[in-house]
Amino acid sequence: MKIFITGGAGFIGSHLCERFLNEGHEVVAYDNLILGRREFLAPFASNTRFRFVEADLVDLERVKKEMAGADLVMHMAANSDISQGAARTDVDMRNGTIATYNVLEAMRVTGVKKLIFASTSAIYGEASVKPTPESYGPLFPISFYGASKLACEAMVSAFSHNCEIQAWVYRFANIVGPHSTHGAIHDFVGRLMKNPAKLEVLGNGTQRKSYLHVLDCIDGMLFGYAKSNELFQCLNLASHGVTRVRFIAEEVVNQMEKVSGKKAELQFGESDRGWVGDVPYTFLDGSRLEGLGWRARHDSDNAVRTAIGEIISEKAK
Ligand SMILES: NC(=O)c1ccc[n+]([C@@H]2O[C@H](COP(=O)([O-])OP(=O)(O)OC[C@H]3O[C@@H](n4cnc5c(N)ncnc54)[C@H](O)[C@@H]3O)[C@@H](O)[C@H]2O)c1
Repeated sequence: MKIFITGGAGFIGSHLCERFLNEGHEVVAYDNLILGRREFLAPFASNTRFRFVEADLVDLERVKKEMAGADLVMHMAANSDISQGAARTDVDMRNGTIATYNVLEAMRVTGVKKLIFASTSAIYGEASVKPTPESYGPLFPISFYGASKLACEAMVSAFSHNCEIQAWVYRFANIVGPHSTHGAIHDFVGRLMKNPAKLEVLGNGTQRKSYLHVLDCIDGMLFGYAKSNELFQCLNLASHGVTRVRFIAEEVVNQMEKVSGKKAELQFGESDRGWVGDVPYTFLDGSRLEGLGWRARHDSDNAVRTAIGEIISEKAK
């Protein structure tokens, strides 16, 4: 199969490149490197089944040219830095909404018929039902990122039904693991490496979220792709349980102590959210995908613990 991965140089995208290349597929990674890193793709540079295109999804003609001949599009590109949206309200419109329209329009024109789309728990906003199932509504996201993803889901549905594009929309929990370019673990480890004495946490540490290891995320997406065969399907992708930010901060401090020999002092903020648009409590109901027979290997706490170790080793290199 030839697979076109948008955001291929990013966190989840670079793991996808590795997985598909290991399975013998041909991969085109398309990324403008605003958040992605060339170094994540370095291990595949000499693989003849791999091609990297450094380009922007806003350039529709280029997307059409590079996508032509693909069997499957994995649309992972977006502005994944949610807090940026509050400061620059056009970032998610550009790299989320317009970029996704271009991916879909390029699929229509080039005749690519299968799409896996990375959506998010952020589309649920501050949902009153926990764990939140896919049927929850009405949907009122509280971040520009969540609003853009919801608009993207609607466009995926419309293109799917009008152009017979088969689509798998996955609403991800918080994904953790090596190559992460953002998020609490990435941020805490980076800050402790600069100052091993103190860790300041955005928010009061009570925020609770579902965390999923990146390898489980990829397994889950490909499992649903193999087992669910509707024209359009929307599935939450999460592990079991939720983890508090306080647990993450304490675990990072403990694991970093083993490396630096110093135990950092923890300092929490006052707010129950890390930034404007942060949803303090998210808990996804993953039973629809589990009903097809899938279960994450790591629960939420375990995914966090594992990812902390992986990210510390990665950053120490
Ligand atoms: N990581 C998570 O916790 C999480 C949770 C929910 C949803 N998601 C979604 O999963 C997908 C992958 O996330 P990630 O964590 O790997 O993020 P990431 O930032 O590491 O990867 C996204 C990639 O998209 C690229 N990109 C952005 N705008 C682009 C554009 N206009 N043209 C070309 N490339 C562009 C970036 O350079 C980056 O490499 C995203 O769509 C994200 O919204 C991630």
